[in-house]
Amino acid sequence: MTRFDGKRRQLLQFAAFGTMAAAWPGAILAEVAEMGSVPSSTFKPDVEIELTARKDTVSLRPGAATHVFKYHGKLLKGPSSTLTELPGYLGPTLNFVRGQKVRIIAYNQLPEPTVAHWHGMHVPQKMDGHPMYAIDQGERYVYEFEVKNPAGTNWYHAHTHEKTATQVYQGLAGLITITDEQEQKLDLPSGEYDLPIVIQDRRFTADNQLRYLQHGRRERAMGFLGDTILINGQIDRAIPVKTRAYRLRLLNGSNSRIYKLGWEDGTPLTAIATDGALLGKPENYPYIMLAPAERVELWVDFSGRELGSDLVLYSLDYHGVMPRMGGGMRGGMGRGGGMGMMEGGLVQGEKFPVVKFHIAEKTSESPELPKVLIPFQRLLDRDVANPDKPRQIGLSMMHMSPELNRRSFELLAVAESEKIPVNTIQKIRITQEDHAMQRGGRRGMGGMEDVDGIDERGGRRGGRGGGGGMMSMAHPIHLHGQQFQILSRLVQDRHGSGYDTVKDGFINTGWKDTVLVMPGEEVTIIKPFQDYTGLFLYHCHNLEHEDMGMMRNFLVR
Ligand code: C2O
Ligand code: CU
Ligand code: CU
Repeated sequence: MTRFDGKRRQLLQFAAFGTMAAAWPGAILAEVAEMGSVPSSTFKPDVEIELTARKDTVSLRPGAATHVFKYHGKLLKGPSSTLTELPGYLGPTLNFVRGQKVRIIAYNQLPEPTVAHWHGMHVPQKMDGHPMYAIDQGERYVYEFEVKNPAGTNWYHAHTHEKTATQVYQGLAGLITITDEQEQKLDLPSGEYDLPIVIQDRRFTADNQLRYLQHGRRERAMGFLGDTILINGQIDRAIPVKTRAYRLRLLNGSNSRIYKLGWEDGTPLTAIATDGALLGKPENYPYIMLAPAERVELWVDFSGRELGSDLVLYSLDYHGVMPRMGGGMRGGMGRGGGMGMMEGGLVQGEKFPVVKFHIAEKTSESPELPKVLIPFQRLLDRDVANPDKPRQIGLSMMHMSPELNRRSFELLAVAESEKIPVNTIQKIRITQEDHAMQRGGRRGMGGMEDVDGIDERGGRRGGRGGGGGMMSMAHPIHLHGQQFQILSRLVQDRHGSGYDTVKDGFINTGWKDTVLVMPGEEVTIIKPFQDYTGLFLYHCHNLEHEDMGMMRNFLVR
C-alpha cells in the first residue's frame, strides 16, 4: 500500500484543481488543504498540551507485559488539574473548563500514520481530526480550539483512515471532561468521588498480547468482540468506594460491543448526563444501553451498603442487535450461534459482570441528588430548517458491506444531499434500509440520488426468502460537530425481534452525539450545524464498520 500521507496530498491536490473544486466553495477548499503543523501567533492558549502517540508496554496480566499504543501527555501551560493519568493503557484524561482556549500539539511516534479526534467536541473542521489530516511518524499536528461544549464527558481517539479500529484497539483513546459554572453550582460529587469508567473488551494471546480479528470479511462485518472486560485500561479491578454518593462517568470505548448496564441487585440506575451534557434532571432506568462511543453519567449512592460488601454492575441479557439474515439462514442464528462470536468469546447480549465496587469505608457525609440539573430546551419542528424533509441516513449491510445511503467512505467526497447550510438546525432520519427491504420495502429507496447499482440491489427488495445477502444489525451512529437531540424512535416488528429486551434502556431526553439504531428502527434526530463550515464526518461507531467504509462527510457551508 502507498503511504497514506502521499495519498492525502494527492487527494488534496485533486480537490484543489480537479473536479471537486467546482462543487466546493473556494474558501473551504483553501482551509481544507492547509495542514495545521504550526501554532498560530494570534491564538492565545489558556491550556497547552503535548500529546504523543507512541508504542509502549503495560502490565495487564500476570507474566509478560502487553504491547500497546498509548497517548502520553505533557502539560506545558494551564491548571495542573488539566491532565490526570489512568493506570492502564489509556491516554491521560484531559480536564477542560468551558471557555478555555486549548492548544494540543500532537506528535506521532508510531510506525504508521495517525490522527486524533476529540469525540463530542464542537470544534472547527481543521481541529476535528478528520482522517485527511493524518500525520506520519515524526510529524506533528497543532490543534487550537476554544472549549464551547458544556459540562460533560467526551473522549478522544485515533481516527485514521482504515486504521481507527486497530489503533483504538491497541490503546489510542482517552477521556475528556468539561466543567462549567452551571455544573459547579450543583455540587456534584467531585475529586475522588467522581470516577471514570471506560469499558472496553479485548482478547489476549497466550503470551499476553492483544489479539484482534484474524478472520475474514464476515467477522469484521460483525464487529470485534473480546472475551475480557477492561475498565480504564485494566483487567479485573474492584473499585473501592465509601458509603456515600458518587458520580460515575461511563464511556463505552469498545470497538463493537454493546452493553446493557444494570446493577446486580436490580437497583435502578440514576442517569445524570448523556453523551454531551448533563440532563435536565436525574432520570431512573431499570438498565441502560451503552453502545460504542456513548457516554452516560450515573449518580450512585452507596450509603446504607454494608462494609465489606460488593456491588457489581452487569451487562445484562439482551438480543436482537445482531444480524438476522434473509431466508434460510434465519433459523440457524440462535443465541449461541456463530454470528458475532469468535470461538470461546462472550456473545453479544450475553450476561457478564462489567465492574465491581467494593464498599471499603464508612462515612456519614454524602451530597444529595439535585432535583434539577441544567436548563434543557427541547428542539422542535419549529426550530429546524427542514421539518417536512428530513435528511436521510440509510443504514445497510448488503453483501457484508456496511454503507450509509448505499455509499462508502471516500476521503473528501460529498454528495448533494450531504451539503448543509451553516447555522441551520436540521432534522435527520436514520433508517435501517435492509430491514425495510426485508419487510417489503416500505421505505424504499426514496430520497437517494445517483446511486450506482441500485437496480441490481433494489431487485432484491422484498425477497425475504431469497439469498443470504441481506442483513440488518444494530448500528451506533455518530455525527461529528454539535450534539443533537433524539426526536423520535419508531420500530416495526418489535415482537420477536429482541427489541423488548433493550427498549427501556435508551435515554432519549439528553444531548447526544451517538445513537444506537436497532434493526427495524427509525430514529429521527435534530442537530444544529452552527459556527463552523467545512467537512464533518458522520459514521457508524462500530469501529470495524467505520473502517469498512460506513462513514461519510457532511459539507457544512
Ligand atoms: Cu468517535 Cu468520528 O468518532
Ligand atoms: Cu466524533
Ligand atoms: Cu455499523
